Amino acid sequence: MSLFRTKPIETDLEKQTGLKRSLNAFDLVMLGIGAIIGTGIFVLTGKAAAVNAGPAVVLSFIVAGLACTFAALSYAELASSIGGAGSAYGYGYAGLGEWPAWIIGWMLVLEYAVAVPAVSVGWSEYLNTGLQTIGITLPEALSHAHETAHPNGVINLAAVLIIVVLGVVLAMGAKVGAVLNAIIVAVKLATIFLFIGVAVFHVDPTLWHPFIPAEVVDADGTKHFGWGGVFDGASRIFFAYLGFDAVSTAAEETKKPSRDLPIGILGSLGACTILYIVVSGLLTGIVPYSTLNVGSPVAYSLLQIGQKTAAGLISIGAIAGLTTVMLVMFYGLTRVLFAISRDGLLPQFFAKLHPTTRTPVGSIIAAGIVMIALAGFVPLSELADTANIGTLGAFVIACVGVLVLRKKRPDLKRPFRAPFGPLLPVLGVLSCGYLMTRLGHTTWTAFAIWLVIGQAIYFGYSRRHAVLARAA
Ligand code: ALA
Repeated sequence: MSLFRTKPIETDLEKQTGLKRSLNAFDLVMLGIGAIIGTGIFVLTGKAAAVNAGPAVVLSFIVAGLACTFAALSYAELASSIGGAGSAYGYGYAGLGEWPAWIIGWMLVLEYAVAVPAVSVGWSEYLNTGLQTIGITLPEALSHAHETAHPNGVINLAAVLIIVVLGVVLAMGAKVGAVLNAIIVAVKLATIFLFIGVAVFHVDPTLWHPFIPAEVVDADGTKHFGWGGVFDGASRIFFAYLGFDAVSTAAEETKKPSRDLPIGILGSLGACTILYIVVSGLLTGIVPYSTLNVGSPVAYSLLQIGQKTAAGLISIGAIAGLTTVMLVMFYGLTRVLFAISRDGLLPQFFAKLHPTTRTPVGSIIAAGIVMIALAGFVPLSELADTANIGTLGAFVIACVGVLVLRKKRPDLKRPFRAPFGPLLPVLGVLSCGYLMTRLGHTTWTAFAIWLVIGQAIYFGYSRRHAVLARAA
């Protein structure tokens, strides 16, 4: 029984699959932006600036964006050369073998299952701010999990409820269609441009000095600012870039996937990187960075400069924008669980389809319960850091996968090939690996426990129950 048995590589990417091929490169870029821009820029930027990097949070965005671009280039190469509905798990199974694919899939499950609650907490923060601008304040016990900043917090009810609603919507068979997605992306971009348009006239350049504040060490040894802070900030706001891989899940509905997937992946990532640099630069240019450790820093900063209407509008736009991020990631999670279960590596329950809607209700219910618990009771930064470590880990393996596959299958047609030989995948491994090392002990502990559970499931169950094992 080989750990590296592979599924056949589907090389005809344009073959008919029963789904209509209606999406073009532009639609994919929009799909990517719809999945990417969310809690990262709207919420985590504030904490990263206040606690880690100061105004140099802009550099954190550049560092994280670069690491992500290296990984995305590898991803694009895999997506353009290996067919299938498209997730790093599927590419791994065809290109690397079952065990590495299982590890990638298991990390993706961690990424999505923790990212959705993380975004729901950000969503709830903007709901709170939106309600406050019309004079309604929710009790702390019901609007936050218990944490240092919210000692009276018990449960984040809004974050729980939005996950329940989205779970029901997904079970009913909803998918964010290209048109609806384009509308919501337009709202999200309008929100960001509104912020830029207002903020640009209120910049006080003295707030950018010192650009990289001097390092500070707390009594417990925790370090802030300095160059270390820039990298810590990068590992935190890496979250803002998660989601570009959602583009590859649309492979079977894309007119010319071998060309359009790389454009969709790299185009959406490029557009988001530019917006993030501009927004984070302005944010620390209109209010002192030390004040930004709040739940909804983008709206908060506008309130501080007296722009109440703009702050209210931004809260509404953020709520709409974050909803699609959650929907796309929740959808992605259920499809990854479904694919793993269909391959026999997880029990059939996860591949169970509803008889009339044909949606994977087993996966939706199981994932939904876990995510409700996380959204209700775990603070945002812990969730986001855990999603980051899972994603970074999956990216490292995907980059290694590109190198392995080039050696193993040099003959494979690669309509998109990451340029400069092995350089970019190697940089992907190093940069994503390095960002992992900047994450804290709690995050590493959670990650290690997750991986151990994953190995136990694989060696205790998946290896023997795999469809490939039965076929052998
Ligand atoms: N990139 C997504 C966000 O920032 C996950 O919300």
